Amino acid sequence: MADAPAPIISDPVPDHPLLRGRREIGRGESTIVVEAATVDGQERVYKILSSPTDYAYYTAADRPVGRHFPVVFADHGTAGRSSRGFPFHIVEVERLYPLPGSGETTDVATKISTAYFDACMMWRNLAQDMGRIALHHLTATPMGWADTVRESLQALEVFSDEYGALPDLIKADNLMMRKDGTLVFSDPVFME
Ligand SMILES: Nc1ncnc2c1ncn2[C@@H]1O[C@H](COP(=O)(O)OP(=O)(O)O)[C@@H](O)[C@H]1O
Ligand SMILES: [Mg+2]
Repeated sequence: MADAPAPIISDPVPDHPLLRGRREIGRGESTIVVEAATVDGQERVYKILSSPTDYAYYTAADRPVGRHFPVVFADHGTAGRSSRGFPFHIVEVERLYPLPGSGETTDVATKISTAYFDACMMWRNLAQDMGRIALHHLTATPMGWADTVRESLQALEVFSDEYGALPDLIKADNLMMRKDGTLVFSDPVFME
């Protein structure tokens, strides 16, 4: 678990024909998000990813898919190299929204974050395996999840094991939602 907040990536948006003149709408430790064109009423963004784990989460053939996972429209290749030492990859993804202060979806997200945090505390002696074991604990213990949520947590566990990714379900902005209120695991993993 991160003790101090990780720094936000400070790179400029890389120069690429798809990205020129686009409005930046989000930024995290390793990702820059800019607005893309809306297609058939579906709002989209370009996620400019500098983490190989995030790139796998969005594009691997065996990436988790289903109701609670982000819809990916295209992989547009690379655009230069990030200060993180990896190339930037541009991936076109459905636009998501922050969770509101309260409501059903927010309650589920809060329950996931809290249960995950508690499980991490329980397994903190496992050091680098803590997050994955904690995630397993969430899927294996009856906690009253809706079936789709439990299945998604299981799919995340499989992905994390497969790709050596660490779950990151504590930071509130890694869980987002669609306009219709569906919870989406937007950025639930990071690199070891
Ligand atoms: N699909 C999306 N639609 C709109 N905004 C997004 C989307 N994905 C991420 N964001 C915004 O961009 C920020 C950084 O994205 P995130 O995927 O969490 O990157 P990082 O891996 O750097 O943490 C998020 O906190 C959120 O505000
Ligand atoms: Mg994030």
